[in-house]
Amino acid sequence: MTIRPAGSADAEGMSRVIAEIFAAGLRKEAQGPDWVLPRYIDNERRIECSVAEGEQGRILGFQSLQQAAADNPYGVAVGWGIIGTHISPAAARQGVGSALFRATLRAAKAFGLENIDASIGADNAMGQAYYEAMGFRTYRTPEGLVCKVYRVGAPS
Ligand SMILES: CC(C)(COP(=O)(O)OP(=O)(O)OC[C@H]1O[C@@H](n2cnc3c(N)ncnc32)[C@H](O)[C@@H]1OP(=O)(O)O)[C@@H](O)C(=O)NCCC(=O)NCCS
Repeated sequence: MTIRPAGSADAEGMSRVIAEIFAAGLRKEAQGPDWVLPRYIDNERRIECSVAEGEQGRILGFQSLQQAAADNPYGVAVGWGIIGTHISPAAARQGVGSALFRATLRAAKAFGLENIDASIGADNAMGQAYYEAMGFRTYRTPEGLVCKVYRVGAPS
């Protein structure tokens, strides 16, 4: 497995990952490459977006880190990082998410971020367990969400 920054040519593989998560009943909507490209790859708030690439170039998953703007839909403090993680169920629980987070954390430190928010569905026990395992801790629970923070400066 290789972890590397996402480029435009990855939009197809990244949308396939989202489709696989949707097909497994772990997501409410599937989205195509035209949605993935501006949202994750070409987003002006992007700090990093990494893909995990398996054998024969197959995208196993990706993780996005963006800087929160004033109007972000999650109510995250301006300037904080916002993280999102999508791993194909076919590649789950094999350390892909952990490997992506190592790259994300390096990017967060290089950027000088102090805090990263993960806003997770309150019914998404798997997502909550993953972020907790990465060192995130719950700091607010708006309706339907569990929001966890990773303090970048804090010792892990
Ligand atoms: C949640 C998700 C990102 C985890 O990715 P992953 O590649 O499977 O994670 P890893 O294999 O690196 O697991 C790291 C740790 O997270 C925790 N974890 C991951 N999946 C878990 C699960 N299904 N149940 C309980 N704990 C889990 C474990 O502590 C695990 O360590 P371990 O396997 O040594 O016990 C992935 O399953 C996913 O993308 N799910 C669908 C979308 C989603 O829910 N995204 C995140 C919330 S928005």
